[in-house]
Amino acid sequence: MATMIPAVSWLRACWTLLVCCLLTPGVQGQEFLLRVEPQNPVLPAGGSLLVNCSTDCPSAKQVTLETSLSKELVDNGTGWAAFWISKVTGDNRILCSGYCNGSQIIGSTGITVYRLPERVELAPLPPWQPVGQNLTLHCQVEGGSPRTSLTVVLLRWEEELSRQPAVEELAEVTATVLAGRGDHGAHFSCRTELDLRPQGLRLLVNTSAPRRLRTFALPVTPPRLVAPRFLEVETSWPVDCTLDGLFPASEAQVHLALGDQVLNATVTNHGDMITATATATARADQEGARQMICNVTLGGERLEARENLTVFSFLGPILNLSEPSAPEGSTVIVSCMAGARVQVTLDGVPAAAPGQPAQLQLNTTENDNGRSFFCSATLEVDGEFLHRNSSVQLRVLSGNSHFVPVLLAVFTTLGVVTVVVALTYDFWARKRRGLYHVRQESPSLPLTSMPTEAMNEEPSRVE
Ligand SMILES: *[C@@H]1O[C@H](CO)[C@@H](O)[C@H](O)[C@H]1NC(C)=O
Ligand SMILES: *[C@@H]1O[C@H](CO)[C@@H](O)[C@H](O)[C@H]1NC(C)=O
Ligand SMILES: *[C@@H]1O[C@H](CO)[C@@H](O)[C@H](O)[C@H]1NC(C)=O
Ligand SMILES: *[C@@H]1O[C@H](CO)[C@@H](O)[C@H](O)[C@H]1NC(C)=O
Ligand SMILES: *[C@@H]1O[C@H](CO)[C@@H](O)[C@H](O)[C@H]1NC(C)=O
Ligand SMILES: *[C@@H]1O[C@H](CO)[C@@H](O)[C@H](O)[C@H]1NC(C)=O
Ligand SMILES: *[C@@H]1O[C@H](CO)[C@@H](O)[C@H](O)[C@H]1NC(C)=O
Repeated sequence: MATMIPAVSWLRACWTLLVCCLLTPGVQGQEFLLRVEPQNPVLPAGGSLLVNCSTDCPSAKQVTLETSLSKELVDNGTGWAAFWISKVTGDNRILCSGYCNGSQIIGSTGITVYRLPERVELAPLPPWQPVGQNLTLHCQVEGGSPRTSLTVVLLRWEEELSRQPAVEELAEVTATVLAGRGDHGAHFSCRTELDLRPQGLRLLVNTSAPRRLRTFALPVTPPRLVAPRFLEVETSWPVDCTLDGLFPASEAQVHLALGDQVLNATVTNHGDMITATATATARADQEGARQMICNVTLGGERLEARENLTVFSFLGPILNLSEPSAPEGSTVIVSCMAGARVQVTLDGVPAAAPGQPAQLQLNTTENDNGRSFFCSATLEVDGEFLHRNSSVQLRVLSGNSHFVPVLLAVFTTLGVVTVVVALTYDFWARKRRGLYHVRQESPSLPLTSMPTEAMNEEPSRVE
């Protein structure tokens, strides 16, 4: 190969010289022309061609083709010779020569080789393009000839955005478009057009792989987060986060978190608005100052809202009686307690310090039956006071303590009445039969006043 290249170059130089000298009109006074057919052929790189050198000179001799290309005599006849030239890789000039009446006659033609671009590629688009900002498309075209027939077209779907000639061997063509919402999902591509129609051939088109654009718009405002300021341990509260002016809202991602606890959010979108709702349940280990975080991500950008909240635990108040039902005269202890940092107040008397129980002791009397004890608990959470109340009722067993004496009195009374009735009956019976003795039963008479007195007095005491 090393020796071939100088040889070829040398040959080419010779032909060029030959063409220059011999084509100069009138020098040899040619009467007959040496035709080269076809004239100015265009063929694909590496292609082959049948070239016919012919003349009308009746005494033509030594008609031949002068070329550095590989050639093969196909056929010849009087005044003509046809050659098959192959492996034409570049533009070339071929020369036919012969002799007519002793004078040299020549003819020539240029050969144009065309080649499709080896690479037509649209540079990758940004993953997300902000709406309202310019996007520059880059198309790279490598190879392709003849360059004068090569044009690069940048397209949005089928719409031509830019059409430019490919000048350099490695041509880069750009176009700028203002990205809009309508460009979301649009396909962009790059097309090369090798226009060989003037040469009697076709328009040869190569198109790059399309690239899909994603555009987005985010508002400048942060999301609106609605969350409780205080959240009691083990209780649930709804949390919601809304952001409007988002495009495309359906592709936005929303994260809701309570501190580092990611909440299971349900995300819905309507128009340009996105809403995430979740239920926050604080764990015992999250007690203290926390943040509720709402995080909206779109187009690689993030908008965040944070709200401070305090997770607290509020145990109690637990109001307890040493005995819910106590006999009259017994000692009952009423105690009220609550969780740490909770101040309890039992029947108006506050406990010594927050977190401490409050207690009171009483000797029950019948007036304490049904008495309510009231305990209020107060917890200060981040400057706010939260209250909880509890009450309990005491039963004093005083009706029950008089039950036996009352019953005894009732039975005694009933017994006396029975005796009196029996004696009275007996008296009247004896009197009718004339057997009445006046003095005998007199000691029992004062007792007759007892029944009425006992019957009136006892029910009022029971009640
Ligand atoms: C070459 O051209 C001559 C003259 O036009 C013609 O007679 C001959 O058939 C041609 N040969 C071929 C192979 O086409
Ligand atoms: C976009 O580019 C055009 C020209 O290419 C320019 O006039 C316009 O101001 C640019 N717009 C933005 C938002 O950069
Ligand atoms: C999240 O919520 C959905 C619906 O509310 C439910 O089906 C799913 O099980 C939840 N996932 C977790 C991990 O809690
Ligand atoms: C915000 O969301 C991203 C994912 O989109 C996540 O990786 C990140 O941890 C979130 N930030 C907060 C503070 O929750
Ligand atoms: C209430 O007090 C009684 C007596 O002191 C005790 O036995 C009981 O466990 C207490 N109940 C509660 C719930 O504290
Ligand atoms: C309750 O009775 C006891 C004696 O039985 C007495 O020592 C105590 O002071 C009484 N307490 C009250 C609050 O009256
Ligand atoms: C608890 O009791 C206090 C004092 O009586 C009252 O102001 C408050 O409203 C009550 N709170 C509840 C939740 O019942």
